[in-house]
Amino acid sequence: MLCVRAPGRVNLIGEHTDYNDGYVLPVAISLETRVYARPREDTRCILYSDTLDEQAEFDLGAIPEPADLPSGFVRYVAGVAWALQRYTGRTLTGIEATITSRLPLGAGLSSSAALEAAFAVLWNRLDDLELNQGMLAILCLEAEHVYAGVQCGLMDQAASLLSEVGHALFFDTRTMATQRIPLPSDWAIVVADTGKPRALAESEYNTRRAQCGAAVQALQKLLGEEVRALRDISPEQAALYLPLVEEPARRRARHVIGENARVLEFLNALRHADAARVRRLMLASHASLRDDYEVSCAELDVMVEACMHAGAIGARMTGAGFGGACIALVERAQRERFLTLAEQHYRARVPHYEPRFWVCEAVGGASMCPEV
Ligand code: GLA
Repeated sequence: MLCVRAPGRVNLIGEHTDYNDGYVLPVAISLETRVYARPREDTRCILYSDTLDEQAEFDLGAIPEPADLPSGFVRYVAGVAWALQRYTGRTLTGIEATITSRLPLGAGLSSSAALEAAFAVLWNRLDDLELNQGMLAILCLEAEHVYAGVQCGLMDQAASLLSEVGHALFFDTRTMATQRIPLPSDWAIVVADTGKPRALAESEYNTRRAQCGAAVQALQKLLGEEVRALRDISPEQAALYLPLVEEPARRRARHVIGENARVLEFLNALRHADAARVRRLMLASHASLRDDYEVSCAELDVMVEACMHAGAIGARMTGAGFGGACIALVERAQRERFLTLAEQHYRARVPHYEPRFWVCEAVGGASMCPEV
């Protein structure tokens, strides 16, 4: 029996920048998805999710179109198979597989990217495809675009496949250059889930992406064709030219341009374990996502407030938004006190959702586990 593990992620900073050719700084976390698989003699894939208690199947010889598959986990697996087959020109080996996950679904921790990464690594091994983790990330992204219909960027797949133990992953989504940034060993990563499932995330996500595209077009008219993405605009240019761009594209662009600058500053702050600067940057990121990008919600705002009240070094929403989780950095020695205070503060203000907290370690990218 083969076993593969793939982690979810939180993003320290760099939100909604990845589809604008920008910078991101995610951490792969110790909430993982595992797949146990047995190869078959034919091309059928029989899948069972023990988290959802659901079974699904499809044939690699004739992978159904996305619309002909039920929504849910099978789409991601079929999407990965489709992308791998298209890229390699080969037909993959059929499998019987059980999926099990500690990653909560819909909490903005990239359970879908983890699922894709797990199957990509599995087939890469099973069929000796010899693709590197970066290529697997690109193919997983294609699966997400075509089979899940979300026009997301590459952050989640990169985090799940390219991360290293104890490090955050600085990832340049234009060049795909990576840098592993060590995390201060006395800081803990806490995921604070609001309990509010992400609503509207998909349609609003694609709308935000289109609005960023509109901002690029307007800026191209003002500054020339070399503006290929919001990544190409400096904060100084933004101050001069954004007032000439129409709303809401103007505020969306202001968030993205400011956020890219914040990621670069955050790298330095993290290297020096500069708590004051980390706090300022995380809170500025959250405020910009709330006010300019408009992807936060009352529950996420209260959770950030709860985390700061409980003594976090810094906190902000993480992932696409509209519900889901916050990331908080917390002094390791203070974490028990932090958890108690943050939960109390949140529950007192948001009685209708069940918050959850996880203290996570930074783990390495998706890999095969020892044979079981
Ligand atoms: C989702 C997407 C990512 C990224 C974030 C926002 O998690 O899958 O590609 O765009 O939202 O930063």
